[in-house]
Amino acid sequence: MYRLPIKALIPGIFLLISSFSQKYPPVKFLSEKDRKRILITGGAGFVGSHLTDKLMMDGHEVTVVDNFFTGRKRNVEHWIGHENFELINHDVVEPLYIEVDQIYHLASPASPPNYMYNPIKTLKTNTIGTLNMLGLAKRVGARLLLASTSEVYGDPEVHPQNEEYWGHVNPIGPRACYDEGERVTETMCFAYLEQEGVEVRVARIFNTFGSRMHMKDGRVVSNFILQALQGEPLTVRPLLLALLLFLSLGNPEEHTILEFAELIRSLVVSRSQIQFLPEGQDDPQRRQPDIRKAKMMLGWEPVVPLEEGLNKTIQYFSRELEHQANNQYIPKPKAARQKKGQPRQHN
Ligand SMILES: NC(=O)c1ccc[n+]([C@@H]2O[C@H](COP(=O)([O-])OP(=O)(O)OC[C@H]3O[C@@H](n4cnc5c(N)ncnc54)[C@H](O)[C@@H]3O)[C@@H](O)[C@H]2O)c1
Repeated sequence: MYRLPIKALIPGIFLLISSFSQKYPPVKFLSEKDRKRILITGGAGFVGSHLTDKLMMDGHEVTVVDNFFTGRKRNVEHWIGHENFELINHDVVEPLYIEVDQIYHLASPASPPNYMYNPIKTLKTNTIGTLNMLGLAKRVGARLLLASTSEVYGDPEVHPQNEEYWGHVNPIGPRACYDEGERVTETMCFAYLEQEGVEVRVARIFNTFGSRMHMKDGRVVSNFILQALQGEPLTVRPLLLALLLFLSLGNPEEHTILEFAELIRSLVVSRSQIQFLPEGQDDPQRRQPDIRKAKMMLGWEPVVPLEEGLNKTIQYFSRELEHQANNQYIPKPKAARQKKGQPRQHN
C-alpha cells in the first residue's frame, strides 16, 4: 500500500479547515454580556433575511422562525450550521416557548396578492401570531419590535403621513385583512406596554424593494422589473398616473408610477410597452412618509439612492430568472399507455 508522509497532508488539512471557517460571512465576536439572543419571526422573508444577516454579522445569536409561506430557506441558507444561528419551521399562530432577549416580529405576508390569497389566515397571523409573540415577550422579559406598515394609513387624506396621523382605512375592503390586521397588532403592542410593561417598538415600513424580495410580490417595482426583463408590457393603473406618488425604502422622495415604469424600462434596457389597467379597489392614491421623527430620534435616513437600489434589485431578479431557467423540471416523455393484449398504436 502507498503511504503519504504526515507532513505532505498538513497543507491539505489546513485548506480543509480554512474552507470550513470561510463558509460563513464574517461575524464579529461579542462577549457574553453584549451578545443577545434574538428571535426573528418571518426571518426567511425579504426584510427578515437582511435583518438576520445584520444581526448575525454583529455577533448575536439569531433564531429565525418561519412557516415559509412567502419566505424561503434559500434566503438564510448561508447561515445554516453556524453556531450562532438556528432556523425553526414554525407557524406563529401556534405558541412558541423559547428563551430570548429580543424579538423582531416580522411574520406576516406583506404584498397584496399574498395577503389576499387567504384573508382569514392573514388575520390569524396578525392577531393570534402577534398575541403569541407579545405573550412570549412578557414571559421572558424580552423587548419586541413590530414591523408594521404604511398600510395602517389606508388611502391617506393627509400628506406626508407622520406618526400622529390615524389613517383612512376601509374596514371591509379587500385590503382590510392586512390593513386592519396590522392596525390591531399596533393596538396589542401598546396594550401590552400599558398593562404589562412589555418594552415594545413599532416601525411603520413604507413600500420597500431589494434583493430577496418575492418575485411574485405583485407590487409595482417587482412587477415592472419582471415585466421589463421578460419583454412583457409594463402594466400601470391609469387613474393614478397623474396622482399616485410612490416612494421607496421609506424615502420621502416622490415619483409617479409612470416615472417608475419609464425608469425601470430604461435601466433594464427593455423594449416593453407601457399598458394601462383599470384601478384596483381601495388602492391608495398617494403615500409619502414624514421621516422627521425617525431622523431626530434615531438619526435614521435613507442612504441607498433610488437608481442604485433599482439596479441591485434588477440584478437579483435577473439571477433568479436564470436560476429558475436552469433548474426547471422538464418531465420525461411518458411511453404511450398500452392496454393488455392490444398491439401498440403508431401514428
Ligand atoms: N416589504 C415591504 O415593503 C413592507 C412594507 C411594510 C411592512 N412590511 C412588513 O415587514 C414584514 C416583512 O415583510 P417582507 O417584505 O419581508 O415580507 P415577506 O413576505 O418576504 O416576509 C414575511 C415572512 O413571514 C413569514 N410568515 C408569514 N406568515 C407566517 C406565519 N403565520 N408564521 C410564521 N412565518 C410566517 C413568511 O414565510 C415570510 O418569510 C411584514 O410584517 C410586513 O408586514 C414590509
